[in-house]
Amino acid sequence: MALGTLADAPRDLVNEIRHLEELFTVGTAKLKEITNHFVNELTKGLTVEGGSIPMNPTWVMSQPTGYETGSYLALDMGGTNLRVCQVTLTEQKSEFDIIQSKYRMPEELKTGDAEELWEYIADCLQQFIETHHGNASKLDKIPLGFTFSYPATQNYIDEGILQRWTKGFDIAGVEGRNVVPMFEAALARRGVPIKLTALINDTTGTLVASAYTDPKMKIGCIFGTGCNAAYFEDFGSIPKLADVKVKPETPMAINCEWGAFDNEHLVLPRTPYDVAIDRDSPRPGQQAFEKMIAGLYLGEIFRLILVDLHDKKDVNIFAGQDISKLRKPYTLDSSFLSAIEEDPFENLSETLELFQSKLNISPSLPELELIRRTAELIGTRAARLSACGVAAISIKKGYKTCHVGADGSVFNKYPHFKARGAQALREILDWPAKENPNDEDPIEIMAAEDGSGVGAALIAALTLQRVRAGIM
Ligand code: GLC
Repeated sequence: MALGTLADAPRDLVNEIRHLEELFTVGTAKLKEITNHFVNELTKGLTVEGGSIPMNPTWVMSQPTGYETGSYLALDMGGTNLRVCQVTLTEQKSEFDIIQSKYRMPEELKTGDAEELWEYIADCLQQFIETHHGNASKLDKIPLGFTFSYPATQNYIDEGILQRWTKGFDIAGVEGRNVVPMFEAALARRGVPIKLTALINDTTGTLVASAYTDPKMKIGCIFGTGCNAAYFEDFGSIPKLADVKVKPETPMAINCEWGAFDNEHLVLPRTPYDVAIDRDSPRPGQQAFEKMIAGLYLGEIFRLILVDLHDKKDVNIFAGQDISKLRKPYTLDSSFLSAIEEDPFENLSETLELFQSKLNISPSLPELELIRRTAELIGTRAARLSACGVAAISIKKGYKTCHVGADGSVFNKYPHFKARGAQALREILDWPAKENPNDEDPIEIMAAEDGSGVGAALIAALTLQRVRAGIM
């Protein structure tokens, strides 16, 4: 936006905006440098020695054909909600019916006790089954796909050894352990008739669900509370699975866990605000990439900037006002930034209202302009950095054209995220300008099918098919 009113703004404020622009703008050359490093890290992560990105094999070893059938439960333990679905894959190609219930994931559970977490999840499942199937104890066991969207080591598809919590979770006694027996024990205590068939990541679910309806889908991404991607690799390109006796061209979906990209801080243009977020997080030194992109952190980056500009004596935005509400960590989520970027009014009156109602602060017009520009810078940087990951997978796999299925609150709700990401991809991959603005890009990031519902059910179906066929 034009910084019109800033002509009359105090010099220091204009300088601060220029400074933020320098800190947060990621130019084409930097995007390319990040992408090149990313390609190397993807490859390294597949070796025995490993790299910064875990590149977790998921044991999802085929794409759906669209002819899968049957009824499955899907449980999604996301960062914000807990969702239980019953998905029926019908005889009709690529068609499904779904019924679902959402439960709030109580904030205290995220940093509470492991037992309470599993009990809560089992309670929700029991409630769902009793509502939709009546007396649970009389039922045969229903196959379940469990979307557990945290980095997990899997030697089998129905195993998940939590590598580390991400997205602000911090529950003692789970890291380094297989979560499946803990989950099953809680179900058994209640006699809930469920058989966990597959433990999956939301990205893998997104990949499979999207490929079910669109065969051009090659990558599944989540841009939500966290950020991550999955794609299909061949066993022949996964040295860390060299011991598995299968043909080298056999596919294996890889959950990249790319949030951990550049944990060594070699290439990402981190600002002092990113350093502060990391330092004060429950897991410092981890998820370097995610902490610059994901919804959980965007509002916090913004908050830290504003507090800093208030505390700097020579700038002192919101002078003389009580900013105690703004001082509270994680008080602003990414929907706050979305609302600022969406403010249609020249005088930013909606942003003013938002600050007054939520934070008890009344910014001046030049301060409102600074606020808007800051939101744009943070949102744009997130979208542009995200594109590096998509470009890196495409380069590694040699995909010249494909669809990328994306889901998550940032992708679906953050204004301009998609267009900014597409622009960055164009710069990284040197595509010529489009002849017609409505033409598709060679690699197009688009809204995905429901990965943690339909995707989890499909993966359960594919797993049972493999079991029946006696394939590992
Ligand atoms: C975090 C998790 C990852 C998940 C992503 C999106 O990065 O570690 O497993 O896919 O968030 O939810």
